[in-house]
Amino acid sequence: MVIYKAKNDQDLSRKSANIISAQIIMKPDCVLGLATGSSPVGTYRQLIEWYKKGDLDFSRVTTINLDEYKGLSPDNEQSYRYFMNKNLFDHVNIDKARTFVPDGLEPDSDKACARYNEIIRAHGGIDLQLLGLGRNGHIGFNEPGSAFEKETHCVDLAESTVEANKRFFASEEEVPRQAYTMGIKNIMQAKKILLIASGEEKAETLKKALYGPITPAVPASILQLHGDVTVIADESALSLI
Ligand code: GLP
Repeated sequence: MVIYKAKNDQDLSRKSANIISAQIIMKPDCVLGLATGSSPVGTYRQLIEWYKKGDLDFSRVTTINLDEYKGLSPDNEQSYRYFMNKNLFDHVNIDKARTFVPDGLEPDSDKACARYNEIIRAHGGIDLQLLGLGRNGHIGFNEPGSAFEKETHCVDLAESTVEANKRFFASEEEVPRQAYTMGIKNIMQAKKILLIASGEEKAETLKKALYGPITPAVPASILQLHGDVTVIADESALSLI
């Protein structure tokens, strides 16, 4: 595991965008596993900037996102599909037909999840998986207690996650209580993993994830068993390490 300490948000974004760019340059038809949340926004902004300068080409890239709220449509501003369009896809030359996010409008969980696993398999797996870190240690929406061997599945969101994510909604009642998420097994099968974290509120969780016992109580702790993980975090997130 390689850990980089970033000086600030901009530095963190540039470092992670550099790793993603290198992946695209070395394998133009790569499969990127992408994430939502506030952590990757700066990374996407940096990628867009480099694309506009002519340094990056997304035309052959495939993306497979980690998760989606169950019940939200793609044009709902809080859906992760909407987030990805707004923060990345609408600004680069990616073929939208090659961008995948779980189908939040599919009410049949088994169907939605089986289809998503099939998409991941059909594309030969993920070359580079970008991950944020939930305050309670979740990755994707794999909440504490999630079985490590799961593939894409439907989850009941932890109260702490509803609480953490309510800032994006008009009120707490509007936060969906369920989501479709890639499982830990899908994530661990990615060839490379890039974990980004910033801010003091992630410090305790990051320490547990990187150096604590490997336990479903801290889903991100499983990353200790992956052979190719890069962590980029700012000083506050690394303050307890
Ligand atoms: C959501 C997403 C996660 C993300 C987490 C952290 O719960 N499902 O994939 O890592 O938020 O978000 P933030 O980066 O805003 O702290």
